[in-house]
Amino acid sequence: MFSCDVKMWSLQNLLFIICIALICVISTAAVIHVSGYEGRDVNVSCSYGEGYESYEKYLCRNDCGNSDVLVKTTEAKKNKYSIYDDKKRRVFTTTLSDLSSVDAGKYWCGVTRTGKDTYTEVRLEVEPDSCCDRSTNIQSYEGGSVSISCSYESEDQNNLKYICRGKQPSTCLQQALITSDNTQNAQFRLTDDKESRKFTVNITSLTQEDSGSYLCGVHRNTGLDVFSAAELEVKDPSHPAVFIVPAVLLLILIFALVMYKYKCYKVQGGGVNMNRNRTKAADAEEAMGGADIYENPEAATCSKKRSSRQQSTCHQNDDTGGDQQDSIYQNLVPTEDIYSTLFYSKGDK
Ligand SMILES: *[C@@H]1O[C@H](CO)[C@@H](O)[C@H](O)[C@H]1NC(C)=O
Repeated sequence: MFSCDVKMWSLQNLLFIICIALICVISTAAVIHVSGYEGRDVNVSCSYGEGYESYEKYLCRNDCGNSDVLVKTTEAKKNKYSIYDDKKRRVFTTTLSDLSSVDAGKYWCGVTRTGKDTYTEVRLEVEPDSCCDRSTNIQSYEGGSVSISCSYESEDQNNLKYICRGKQPSTCLQQALITSDNTQNAQFRLTDDKESRKFTVNITSLTQEDSGSYLCGVHRNTGLDVFSAAELEVKDPSHPAVFIVPAVLLLILIFALVMYKYKCYKVQGGGVNMNRNRTKAADAEEAMGGADIYENPEAATCSKKRSSRQQSTCHQNDDTGGDQQDSIYQNLVPTEDIYSTLFYSKGDK
């Protein structure tokens, strides 16, 4: 008898534990998880038991007091909430429009009864409608082709893959350029390598218009789809801007160099004559200074361009040409000053 009692007691305990576990499982399974994008709509669908078809249903927040009821089937539209009761399927759906981050949190689906209402817990997540912080940069050329590679999780192996333009996850699937259900069209081809968990979208006949943002999407049956971003730049290899700007800069540089050398050469040419004259006129100076002194003023003529007098020498030389060498000599006469300053500076050293 005693052992039988113990057995009864433990059996009751066991049943009690099983009951608690079942309640736990049921209550966790009863939480409905819903996700939506900021600025978009989301549907919250709750099912109810047979016999409740004609009862009032509602969606509420917090403690579900009278002021916490957001919308009810007896008043089907209120603010950004609307509710629809599908009595055949015994599912009522509340649509929350223009979601914002403050809408995220806990809600309850309620059925009004005499006595205590029934409740189903709802958790709403709101995510920004833009993707992603990181993106892969890809470059190609007009007329060429490019491959965008998109990795995915092993759990998504058999899910729908797709790619779209832009950065908005909420509209990506409906605006998909190509999906794994329809893997080829005029410009796009999608190949899915399930072993390396990567799908690749090949884009051919690239034009400048193909430049921009792309989103790789993987469809999830529950929760929001998964995305990764790519940024494509299509370059024009024959675009003038690629060459013209550096080419013009180079030409200007070459022209400046040539002009500079040309001016120096002309002045040097005059200088040689002058030197010959000088050699006759000032033998004593030559004896003192040596040949390199005569070269120095020429160098000075070009290198001391900042001196206004020398600059005018250069310019006038340019304007007047070879047959007005007299004026050049006249201009160059003050070079005696240079000579003397050079001598002084030599003497200083
Ligand atoms: C919500 O449900 C309505 C009615 O079934 C449907 O037209 C709408 O597209 C749904 N919205 C979302 C975001 O799933």
